[in-house]
Amino acid sequence: MSQTRSETSHDPFKSSKFFAFPEKLSEIFVFFMRVGLLVCLVASVSLALHSAFSTRSRWPSFPERLSPNVSDQKSGPTNISHLLFGLAGTVHTWRDRSRYSELWWHPNTTRGFVWLDEKPDANVSRPDFSVPYRVSEDWTRFKYSSSQSAVRIARIVLESFKLGLPNVRWFVMGDDDTVFFTKNLVSALASYDHNQMYYIGGNSESVEQDALHAYDMAFGGGGFAISHPLAAQLVKIFDGCLDRYYKFYGSDQRVWACVSEIGVPLTRLRGFHQFDIREDPYGILAAHPQAPLLSLHHLDYLKPIFPNQTQIGSVKSLMDAYRADPTRILQQSFCYNHRRKWSVSIAWGYTIQIYTSFLTAKDLQTPLLTFKTWRTWKDGPFTFNTRPVSSDPCEQPVIFFLDKVQEVGKSGTVTTYRRYVANQGKNCDTADHARAMAVQSIRVSSMKMDPEHWKKAPRRQCCEIMDRGTLESSGMRIRIRKCRPWETITI
Ligand SMILES: *[C@@H]1O[C@H](CO)[C@@H](O)[C@H](O)[C@H]1NC(C)=O
Ligand SMILES: *[C@@H]1O[C@H](CO)[C@@H](O)[C@H](O)[C@H]1NC(C)=O
Ligand SMILES: *[C@@H]1O[C@H](CO)[C@@H](O)[C@H](O)[C@H]1NC(C)=O
Ligand SMILES: *[C@@H]1O[C@H](CO)[C@@H](O)[C@H](O)[C@H]1NC(C)=O
Ligand SMILES: *[C@@H]1O[C@H](CO)[C@@H](O)[C@H](O)[C@H]1NC(C)=O
Repeated sequence: MSQTRSETSHDPFKSSKFFAFPEKLSEIFVFFMRVGLLVCLVASVSLALHSAFSTRSRWPSFPERLSPNVSDQKSGPTNISHLLFGLAGTVHTWRDRSRYSELWWHPNTTRGFVWLDEKPDANVSRPDFSVPYRVSEDWTRFKYSSSQSAVRIARIVLESFKLGLPNVRWFVMGDDDTVFFTKNLVSALASYDHNQMYYIGGNSESVEQDALHAYDMAFGGGGFAISHPLAAQLVKIFDGCLDRYYKFYGSDQRVWACVSEIGVPLTRLRGFHQFDIREDPYGILAAHPQAPLLSLHHLDYLKPIFPNQTQIGSVKSLMDAYRADPTRILQQSFCYNHRRKWSVSIAWGYTIQIYTSFLTAKDLQTPLLTFKTWRTWKDGPFTFNTRPVSSDPCEQPVIFFLDKVQEVGKSGTVTTYRRYVANQGKNCDTADHARAMAVQSIRVSSMKMDPEHWKKAPRRQCCEIMDRGTLESSGMRIRIRKCRPWETITI
C-alpha cells in the first residue's frame, strides 16, 4: 500500500496531492525533494523551450498514411474493435496494477497498449500479461512545472494516433488502474457519430477537485474517449499546446485545455467514475445514477466494494453480475412492503437495503454518505447530493450483498444477496428490525435489460416483493420488471 501511495507522484491522473502540504512527518521529506526538483526544473526550462521550438517544424505536415480511411469508418455499428485503448502506466506501478486491467482486457479482442515510461526489465514484462505495452517516446523535450510524467501521459493520445492503426473510431484513455466495463462503453460510444468531433468523459466527484482543475474537463482516471476526427485535429496542435499549458498539474487537464482550443466541449456521461473519494464507495454504488456503468478507478485507495473481499476480488464479483446483464449492473429499483412498512432498495448485481420505515424515492436514490472528499477527507461538497448515515441503528438499513448470479435461459437472471453483519456498533432491538434481520437471503429475478435501454428515455424499473405471506421466513423473493406507464413509487 505504501508503495502504491508513493507512486502517486508518477501518476498525474491520480490527482493533486503533489503540492498539498505534507500531513504526515514521513511526507515532509518527499515534499522537500519536490521543492528541490522544482528549482532544477527552472534551470532546464530554457533548454526544453529551445528543443521544443527547434523540432516543431516536424508537426504541421502530418504523414498522409495516418489519415483515416473514411470508407472503412462508415461501415457498420461501433464494436469493441473500433476502440483503441491507451492506458497510462509506469514500470513501477504496472506489475501491481496490471491486475486491474487483466480483469477487463480480452486478449485478441481489446485493442490498445499500456504506455510505460521506460522499457520494463524481465521482472516486469511477464509473458502472460495480456495488455501489450509501448514505451513513450519523445516526451522529455517539453516544458513542465510540476510533473513531467503528465506531459508523457497527455501525449498518449498523440502517440496512439500516430500508430496509424486501421478502423479506430475512438481513442479511449485511462489509467493503469482504471477498470472499464467495455460492453457498456461500446454501446455508449456507439450512440455518438464517430465521424464528428467528440470529447466524452466525466469529472470528479469532489467539488474541491473540480474547482482546482476544471468542472468541464474529463478526469483521466475515470477514462475518456476522443473520436478519431477530434484526435486528428488534436495531434496537429498538441505539442505546441503542451508547452502553452506547461503549468498545469495533470495530463488530463492538458488534454482538456488543448481540446478547448479546438472548441469542443465535454460530453459528460455519468457512468465514468474517477472516484476522487476516500473510504467506502458503497453509497455511490448503491445509488448509481440512471446511466450505464462505464468505469471504476482508485480502487486501491478505497475500501473493497464487497466487505470481506479484496479490492480485486470485489471487482471480480461485480464482473460476474455484469457479464450476466451488463446493461443492468448497479441499476436501482425500489419496492415497499406496505404491511410491514418496509422500503427496499436494490442496486442490481451489488447490494440490497431494507429500511424498516418508509423512505421516499428521492431519498432512496440519494447516495448514503459513506465516503469523504479526495484531498481533504471531508464530508463534502460533492457534485451530487448525499444523505448522512443515521447514528440511530434503527434507522440504518439492513444490508445484503451479492452472493450468486445465475442465468436463466437466454434472457433471464436470478441473483442472490446474503445479509451482511458489520461486526461493530450498537444494534437496534425493536421487533420490526429483528424481523428484517431474520431475512438471511434475497433472491431477485429479472429479465436481462435491453441493450438498447439507454438509447430510450431513461426510467427506473419497478420491483415487487413476491412472498408477502411468508415474510416470517429467512428468505425473500423479489421480481424486477418494467414499470407500468401509470405506476409510481409512492408510499
Ligand atoms: C480504404 O478501405 C477500403 C475498404 O477496406 C479499401 O478498398 C480502400 O483501398 C482503402 N483506401 C485507402 C486510401 O487506403
Ligand atoms: C466490428 O465491425 C467490423 C465492421 O465495421 C467487423 O469487420 C468486425 O468483425 C467487428 N468486430 C467485432 C469484434 O465484432
Ligand atoms: C490470441 O491469438 C493468438 C494468435 O492468433 C493465439 O495464439 C492465442 O491463443 C489467442 N489468445 C486467446 C486468449 O484467444
Ligand atoms: C526483480 O525484483 C526483485 C524484487 O522486486 C529485485 O530484488 C531484483 O533486483 C529484480 N531483478 C531485476 C533484474 O531487476
Ligand atoms: C468472510 O469470509 C470468510 C471466508 O470466505 C467466511 O468464512 C466468513 O463467514 C465471511 N464473513 C462474513 C461476515 O461474511
